[in-house]
Amino acid sequence: MKCKVCSGPGVIDIRRHNANFCSEHFLRYCRQQVEKVIHEFRMASPGERLLVAVSGGKDSLALWDLLLELGYEADGLYVGLGIGDYSVESARQVKAFTDRFAAPRGGSLIEVDLRETYDIDVPTAAKVGKRVPCSACGLSKRHLFDKAAIDGGYDALVTGHNLDDEAAVLYGNVMRWQTAYLGRQRPHLPAENGFPRKIKPLVRLSEREMAAYCVLRGIDYQIDECPMAVGNKHLQYKAALNMAEEDTPGMKQAFYFGFLREAVDRFAPDAAAREGGQSNGEPGSDGSTNDAEGSLGLCQRCGSPTNNEVCSFCTLVERTSGHDPVPVELVRRPAKRRQR
Ligand code: AMP
Ligand code: FES
Ligand code: ZN
Ligand code: ZN
Repeated sequence: MKCKVCSGPGVIDIRRHNANFCSEHFLRYCRQQVEKVIHEFRMASPGERLLVAVSGGKDSLALWDLLLELGYEADGLYVGLGIGDYSVESARQVKAFTDRFAAPRGGSLIEVDLRETYDIDVPTAAKVGKRVPCSACGLSKRHLFDKAAIDGGYDALVTGHNLDDEAAVLYGNVMRWQTAYLGRQRPHLPAENGFPRKIKPLVRLSEREMAAYCVLRGIDYQIDECPMAVGNKHLQYKAALNMAEEDTPGMKQAFYFGFLREAVDRFAPDAAAREGGQSNGEPGSDGSTNDAEGSLGLCQRCGSPTNNEVCSFCTLVERTSGHDPVPVELVRRPAKRRQR
């Protein structure tokens, strides 16, 4: 296996591009893909301040690293969700990355802990509200991401969604014809109605490439999946697409970028889907909360944009705070029974 650029020994093959790369040229390829997508979708300009939501996983840590490499002024944001040992380890990875890779290049970390600040955590919110954990989790993250970006005066909120993530979300939205979400599934959502600009500069890179990036750069990351996401629809959609990709390399990229080119404009943007965010394929997690369509007002509790008197996050906090914390184990999905 020879590097496509220098003919030196290759370390990775990228079948959808029919290319192998050595370590140096693979890292360069990753930077180029991020630069290309930022330019293509006018995501950010030099000199702007970016806030990167970092989970401790490979994608968001690689992204923060890539943006700093490319010379962007980028800080990190970590939200402590209170998901037992999983969150403890995720926080540890984020802090280690900040000290070793971000701080020396001027990047600092903002931390928000759900338990400390709001007296809630994801397992307890899920149990008390009888919601799917990913729904309480997604709602909290979106709210806190938006708030941190606005409060900190950042030009954009950046997330580490990669090509596999976006293709799987698209697949789920198409399977259930979630037209409001389809209209918003762009890698760049401009700032509007009190929400910050949101960008996803990793959409040209795959999960596997991000894992390779971290290994080659010496970045440690949280390798475990969230224990509460096990068996969710999003992971099932990813598995289905992986099978198709195995057969036809490039299929995922063609599916997602073809949609952006040919179809996204056909689905009108829907402001109501914004507070709810994008569907991740879980029942109830598509944010189809009680937000009616129409112009947005401000939450009476926290002042963030909403269609209701009180936003979905403040409602979640009001219902959950004061309850004894529920351990993760009690919220895990029961294993599905085999169909006979
Ligand atoms: P997920 O929804 O877990 O697939 O994560 C998608 C993106 O959301 C990640 O790439 C991060 O940018 C961001 N993210 C997820 N969890 C957290 C967290 N606990 N704190 C900050 N950012 C997060
Ligand atoms: Fe949100 Fe698992 S990371 S429920
Ligand atoms: Zn090379
Ligand atoms: Zn509120």
